[in-house]
Amino acid sequence: MKIGVCDSGLGGLTVLRQIVKRYPNHDYLYYGDTKHLPYGEKTKSQLMEYASGIMDYFIEQRVDFVIIACGTISTNIYGELKKKYSIPMIDIISPTITYLKEREFSSVGVLATPMTIHSHVFDDALYQNTTTVACAKFVPLIESGKMDSSECKDAISLYLRPMIENKVEHIVLGCTHYPILMDLLFKEYPCDYIDMGDILASSLKLEQNSSEIGSIDLYFSHVTPMLEKMVELVFPFPYRMNEEE
Ligand code: DGL
Repeated sequence: MKIGVCDSGLGGLTVLRQIVKRYPNHDYLYYGDTKHLPYGEKTKSQLMEYASGIMDYFIEQRVDFVIIACGTISTNIYGELKKKYSIPMIDIISPTITYLKEREFSSVGVLATPMTIHSHVFDDALYQNTTTVACAKFVPLIESGKMDSSECKDAISLYLRPMIENKVEHIVLGCTHYPILMDLLFKEYPCDYIDMGDILASSLKLEQNSSEIGSIDLYFSHVTPMLEKMVELVFPFPYRMNEEE
């Protein structure tokens, strides 16, 4: 089976790495729309335009099944996308919501993009006391490889402050880019950080239809040397990637 996985950039690779770990025998086609990121501050009609471009590419490439590895697409236009395309697809947010509902944690925090936070998908679905923080600075910092900069440290302190004040014990990384900051977040405030890619991968029920290792093709709509470096850092499996443009 050929599985399409998409995001605005690097973030969906944190999802793909969890899926490949459990299901190495399928073929994967990843689409990172680096030309248009960050998605977290776009309008819904812009998101629909970009996501449609990705879906058309997947259909052209004969993908069988699509995984929307982007919190922002999942919380804002997933319903519309499903209406427009008949190709089977799943989103990254639903398994996370199910996971949280099953556990009934007494306090939950959500760090995500402005578009995801303003969609209110998490606080509407959860009856728990939910602390949500829109983290506009994280994606540009991650995509430009500035995780060790003082700007990133300051952003981490700023965004975690409400979590610390509310003594939140479980924090959803509601944008798929954020697991890349996991160690830094943990250092600033140790608690249970929830990786949506891990949850989605454990909820998947794919057949292991071959004993051979499948192929992994990564396509990015804009490639820079920094992106290539970051992909190597984030993604631990052998892959083919399109050339610099
Ligand atoms: N990684 C994406 C998400 O999960 C998109 C981030 C962005 O481009 O702002 O929301």
